[in-house]
This record gives sequence, C-alpha cells and structure tokens, in this order.
Amino acid sequence: MPLMTRIETAISNAIAIGQGRGAVPGQLASALDYATSPGGARIRPTILMSVAMACGDDRPKVSDAAAASLELIHCASLVHDDLPCFDDADIRRGKPSVHKAYSEPLAVLTGDSLIILAFEILARQSALAPDRAAQLILTLSQRSGMPGGICAGQAWESEAEVDLSAYHQAKTGALFIAATQMGAVAAGQEPEPWFELGARIGEAFQVADDLRDALYDSETLGKPVGQDDLHGRPNAVSELGVQGAISRLKDILSGAIASIPSCPGEAALAEMVRRYAERLTPVAPTHHNV
Ligand code: IPE
Ligand code: IPE
Ligand code: MG
Ligand code: MG
Repeated sequence: MPLMTRIETAISNAIAIGQGRGAVPGQLASALDYATSPGGARIRPTILMSVAMACGDDRPKVSDAAAASLELIHCASLVHDDLPCFDDADIRRGKPSVHKAYSEPLAVLTGDSLIILAFEILARQSALAPDRAAQLILTLSQRSGMPGGICAGQAWESEAEVDLSAYHQAKTGALFIAATQMGAVAAGQEPEPWFELGARIGEAFQVADDLRDALYDSETLGKPVGQDDLHGRPNAVSELGVQGAISRLKDILSGAIASIPSCPGEAALAEMVRRYAERLTPVAPTHHNV
C-alpha cells in the first residue's frame, strides 16, 4: 500500500472510532472529519512512518496508530489556533476554519475531542504492544502539553519577552521530535537517538513557514498570510532577512541528514529528508521584493 494511502486509512479509521455510532451529537461527529480531511501535507505522519520503516516496521498496526494519533494532535492544534481568541483565522487548508464552518463552541470541542482521541488510539494498542503503547503515550503527551509541547509554544505568545528558539521548539519543533521518536518507538527502538533529527527538521520547517508567511499570498497557501508581522511575532525573516533565513534553512537540513542514527533504512530515510528539503525551500516570491 502506498505510504500516503496507509496514512489516510489510519487517520480515517481513528476518526470513525471518534465518531462512534448511534446517538451521538451529529455536528461534532461531522466536525471531527471536517478538521482532519482533506488534510494538508501530512508531513508529521510521513516522517513518523519513514522512521518506523527505516527501523524495520515490525508492528505495522502500532505504526499506523502512532501516525494517526500524531496527525490528530496536529489537526487539533490548528483548530484551536484558528479560534478568535488565538489567531482569528477564517481559512484553513483552503476552506473555512472549523469555528467558521460550525461554531466556536464546536471548534473548541473538536480540538478537545481530537486530542483525547489521539491518546485513545494509542491506548488501544496496549493489548498488542504494551511497552510501545505506553512509551508512545508518554512521548506524545510530552510534545503536546506543558512544559515543552504545543501548549507551552502557544503560551509564549502571551508573554512579554519571547525566546525565539524556545518558542519555535515548543510550538512547532515538538511535533517533529514526536514524529521521529514515535516512529522509532513504534518499531521497537529507543526514542533518544532520534531527538536530533526531529528537532532539526522541526526547526527547518519553522524557518520555511516564516518565509512562506512573509513571501507568499493567501491563495497559494490556503490560509491567511502576513500573520507574523500582523501579530508582531518574532520570526526568522524579521531576525535574519529573507536570504539569511534561506541559508539558515539549508544549513539546518544538511545537519538533519548528518544526524540520522544508523539503522537498516538509513539511506532511504536520508533520501526522504533530502526530497523534503527541496520542497521546503521557497520558490519565487509573489508579493514582496527580496
Ligand atoms: C501548519 O502546519 C502549522 C504550523 C505548525 C506552522 P502544516 O504546514 O504542516 O499544516 P498542514 O497540516 O499541511 O495543513
Ligand atoms: C500554528 O502556528 C501551529 C500550532 C502549534 C498550533 P501558526 O499560527 O504560526 O501557524 P498557521 O500560520 O496558523 O498555520
Ligand atoms: Mg498561531
Ligand atoms: Mg495561526
């Protein structure tokens, strides 16, 4: 089965569990699907699966659950991030954000439900692989909450003084660290050696995201642009300039490839990161002079 089909199947199986059957609140059940598909780039589960496969993928169902749970947390973070009390964004992935399509209360509940579902999906693997399930739950919770996960990352935006690298690592980097570490754990390996690869890919992703936010238009991206400047957020482009940010991106990604731990699928994984690096590097800007 192609990797993308495997990921989409894992996510829709997870959502079906969350939607349940019988007497359930219909709008929330529908919003769970709306918030998760069609998806975006699915980069986090792609990285997770690539690491799991590089490590042998000897429990494919555990890898599927890990990939789905990580993407559910990511989608939940986007639903909450778009709410009026955060970024107040009307568009996500080229369609109305969840609070616009449903309502604010339903968007809060959609995010909550997806977060809880993510952990349920992992807990369900405990019959098959209890040690791996427990480690996956631990890793995903550490990268989602406080003090080092998305909650911490979003909370930096409420502080007067922001440490750019702590902010980026918690807000965005955390789920990339979760991706590489959960991929390794799903395949029965230790998470620690995979920290650096995830951290570097996450840092590169954030720099690329800052570049896109500054350089692209909202039609190209399917979400509002210029948000960093609008909200006065610290970002790589304001710190380093466009060319500085592009060369920083390239440095980080070559470091990422060099950091891949030795494993049976090391070469294929390096190739995946190389291809991803090409996709991340921005092409000609559409609305700014550089
Ligand atoms: C967007 O993430 C949110 C950030 C962490 C900056 P993605 O660019 O991976 O979003 P999708 O999932 O592809 O829509
Ligand atoms: C969203 O970050 C990422 C989360 C951790 C929720 P941003 O607000 O910077 O990303 P976009 O531009 O809305 O995707
Ligand atoms: Mg935000
Ligand atoms: Mg946002």
